[in-house]
Amino acid sequence: MIRKCLFPAAGYGTRFLPATKSMPKEMLPLVNKPLIQYGVEEALAAGINGMAIVTGRGKRAIEDHFDISYELEHQIAGTSKEAALKDIRHLINVCTFSYTRQVEMKGLGHAILTGETLIGNEPFAVLLADDYCVTESGEDPVLLQMVKLYQKYRCSIVAIEEVPHDETSKYGVIGGVEEAPGVYRVRQMVEKPDPADAPSNLAIIGRYILTPDIFDILRVTPPGRNGELQITDALMTQATYGRVLGFKFKGRRFDCGSVEGFIDATNYAYQHIYKRK
Ligand code: G1P
Repeated sequence: MIRKCLFPAAGYGTRFLPATKSMPKEMLPLVNKPLIQYGVEEALAAGINGMAIVTGRGKRAIEDHFDISYELEHQIAGTSKEAALKDIRHLINVCTFSYTRQVEMKGLGHAILTGETLIGNEPFAVLLADDYCVTESGEDPVLLQMVKLYQKYRCSIVAIEEVPHDETSKYGVIGGVEEAPGVYRVRQMVEKPDPADAPSNLAIIGRYILTPDIFDILRVTPPGRNGELQITDALMTQATYGRVLGFKFKGRRFDCGSVEGFIDATNYAYQHIYKRK
């Protein structure tokens, strides 16, 4: 029922310069796998196989990654190295990848609106690849938890987690009423509020399920924080006339948009994924 996942991937990744000067930040690897591949695997685990990627200038490496590399594959055919491409070959076989370019960087809301042409008129997921999410073994991956919740509530859902109060200005923050354990009906939503203005310490992290009316709302949403079109503002509008839920997911998130988070995620992936293979 949720068939497509949108990946906004047009940002510059300035915190990782010069590494991201000519390489997309989404291609930064946790050990041996690029961030965006973890994201695509999480979407697939949620039963989604339509990957809609909003790219920008300098992002061609993403398209090449989700494609066959004839020369390389011919070169290593029949050797032990072939196994290293098994996972990515599987993704290429079972998923479809479509792309569109965001020509100007006008915010996450603008990136999502740019992706409308790839999504059409159906509910969809949004995954920000620099939020790397992991769960305990036996636990559903985060996007699958959200897809299951969507099946029950049929409305837009944002993943949330508690953050220290003095860090609210790094996130979209919700205020709401807990309707079921871990499920909040959103009453307020503010993009990157100062701690004094934050409705709570429940921060939005980069996993969303959105109903397609969000596109019409985005079209008429004025620029918000930083003069950018914010998905947070559009969701607040949706919450006022309908229902939007905040969902405290089970699992752990690494902010790979920051150097510290990226290092922590790398260590986690090395210990829990790479070494266990
Ligand atoms: C975006 C959203 C913000 C959200 C965050 C999660 O901000 O605008 O509401 O909390 O992603 O990672 P960004 O980190 O792109 O500035």
